[in-house]
Amino acid sequence: MYVCLCHGISDKKIRKLAIDEGITDIRGIKKCTALGSQCGKCVKLTKEILAETQYLQVQKAS
Ligand code: FES
Repeated sequence: MYVCLCHGISDKKIRKLAIDEGITDIRGIKKCTALGSQCGKCVKLTKEILAETQYLQVQKAS
């Protein structure tokens, strides 16, 4: 699904960046993409996706 409608960024892309690049916070995602640079409505959901991805990574590792 699209998380950032202004820039066409999906949850898959955010998860992939988080896993492949080791990004854990919104600033890291903003450095790699334009996410949040227009209306900003996507920031909250992106934070939730990052937290969930981190949680799943920790679960997978243990
Ligand atoms: S939805 Fe991401 S900046 Fe508007």
